[in-house]
Amino acid sequence: MTNEKILKVNHLKKYFEVGKNETLKAVDNVSFEIFKGETFGLVGESGCGKSTIGRTIMGLYNRTGGEVIFDGDNVHELTDKDKFAFHRSMQMIFQDPYASLNPRSTVKEVIAEPMEIHGIYKDKKERLERVYELLEEVGLSRDHANRYPHEFSGGQRQRIGIARALALDPAFIVADEPISALDVSVQAQVVNLLRKLQKEKGLTYLFIAHDLSMVKHISDRIGVMYLGNMVELTESNQLYKKPLHPYTQALLSAIPIPDPDLEEKRERMILEGELPSPINPPTGCVFRTRCPFAMKACASVTPKWQEVEDNHFVACHLYNDEIKDKTPVKELAYQ
Ligand SMILES: Nc1ncnc2c1ncn2[C@@H]1O[C@H](COP(=O)(O)OP(=O)(O)OP(=O)(O)O)[C@@H](O)[C@H]1O
Ligand SMILES: [Mg+2]
Repeated sequence: MTNEKILKVNHLKKYFEVGKNETLKAVDNVSFEIFKGETFGLVGESGCGKSTIGRTIMGLYNRTGGEVIFDGDNVHELTDKDKFAFHRSMQMIFQDPYASLNPRSTVKEVIAEPMEIHGIYKDKKERLERVYELLEEVGLSRDHANRYPHEFSGGQRQRIGIARALALDPAFIVADEPISALDVSVQAQVVNLLRKLQKEKGLTYLFIAHDLSMVKHISDRIGVMYLGNMVELTESNQLYKKPLHPYTQALLSAIPIPDPDLEEKRERMILEGELPSPINPPTGCVFRTRCPFAMKACASVTPKWQEVEDNHFVACHLYNDEIKDKTPVKELAYQ
């Protein structure tokens, strides 16, 4: 990891118009930065806006507000010429490699397609050599080139997806739950492969996941999302040692500990209440309806995004000195 910022996300908003006159706030005022060469983990439960952030960063979605700056350029204001170069430098790996690979194309065709579209390695033989090279880089072999995706296991298919993403030599990869669909035994192999490739090529990853158990081993820093908002962001170790936001504390307490004695003593913080709808999110702090510490201010004041310790950001009134009355009010929570 370097201290050069490759990506800056400033006050990003992505709203969807749904139904009649209804707005779904999938991403609401989210800010963070990613350093060149780091793995930035983005976690939070289903529907909190992780994929939407990924897709908006890649320019696949227009933004409703805020900006995404990649390598100094505003992703949503690129000229057509710059767009082409941008799409080469930012690639995506998906959760379900099978769904994202065309079943009628051979592995060779799947991996060569981005090169064709971008007109690199125009010479057929050269392109094929590049495909072989990529297959070997992801732990497959050139013998696999003429087979079809369905002939492979889940882990191997994800390797094909990774080879395809690498075909254009990108600098930045959005990995959207790349291991969630894989057997636990295979997950570690794919993670190790991603690590190896990162080291070799100086890649930067935005690694999306819905729980914290794997992400902590992979990420340099982690951002925790809840209902379209970023609620906490810090270095992985720090997040595990000292989670500040009650939502992060709940997510962490849900991870089983491999030691049976410790596991028995583990205190679980179960989140009560249902996840509110992003169409009609709670006023003030969006987490307050499930927060055991909800206080009066939480219903009316949106928590500030503050750096409460070095490189440790949180949006929670528990850490806001301007709020004097921190008595929990049961009625605000769980309603
Ligand atoms: N194209 C769309 N049109 C309307 N609503 C959308 C669209 N894409 C996503 N949403 C909504 O935006 C919210 C965030 O969705 P998103 O897919 O980003 O969540 P996620 O965190 O990736 O969830 P998961 O863990 O299930 O993948 C959800 O409420 C979802 O229903
Ligand atoms: Mg998603």
